Amino acid sequence: MNNKFIVANFKSYKTQIEAEEWLNEIKNFQVPQGKEVIVCPPFTLLSFFKEFIGKNNLSIKLGSQDISPFQEGAYTGEVSGRQIKEFADYVLIGHSERRLNFNEKDEMLDKKVKEALKNNLVPIFLVQGQENIIPEGVKIIAYEPIFAIGSGTPDSPENADTVSGFFKEKNNLEVLYGGSVNSQNVNLFTSKNNISGVLVGGSSLDAREFIEIINHA
Ligand code: PGA
Repeated sequence: MNNKFIVANFKSYKTQIEAEEWLNEIKNFQVPQGKEVIVCPPFTLLSFFKEFIGKNNLSIKLGSQDISPFQEGAYTGEVSGRQIKEFADYVLIGHSERRLNFNEKDEMLDKKVKEALKNNLVPIFLVQGQENIIPEGVKIIAYEPIFAIGSGTPDSPENADTVSGFFKEKNNLEVLYGGSVNSQNVNLFTSKNNISGVLVGGSSLDAREFIEIINHA
């Protein structure tokens, strides 16, 4: 059986002190066999996470929440794939918050995926529904309907399974579900045939709740 993915998306939350508290709460927790835990903190915390994970020998992988569509160069404010690869193995691309607030369109997302792949980063490509285009080379996607994000109202596990099945069949992808996942509902999603894991925003910010999510996934 393939690993189940449990991905934490911290968004623009946590300072270093807050991250350290979170890590201290999780450091004695053993990730169960068959589960792949990936944490995506803000760029400012990637280095700190990497050092802490190394020192404490934690089985947590790191991801970034974004990537520059360009190679290194004169792109003020951007973080390139080569820079991210020093710290992380995964990268989130195409989150609806970026599509909406930063006007990221298919063409740009395609460039970001190319930069990720060039630098041996695994893109986790986010889609909001069946209409989304998946760039070439993507192997893992996360289905996150907009109404479900941060709302406390997740999609129904049945519908999430149907959408995941659509992408699995069409593009041969691993599909995660995201949107108001917590320790109480996670298993309703991960027990579905077509769902390979979850992407967790708000509920990942509390380390104890995140541990429960991992345990119940
Ligand atoms: P949420 O966010 O778990 O807070 O709904 C999920 C996401 O946006 O990745």
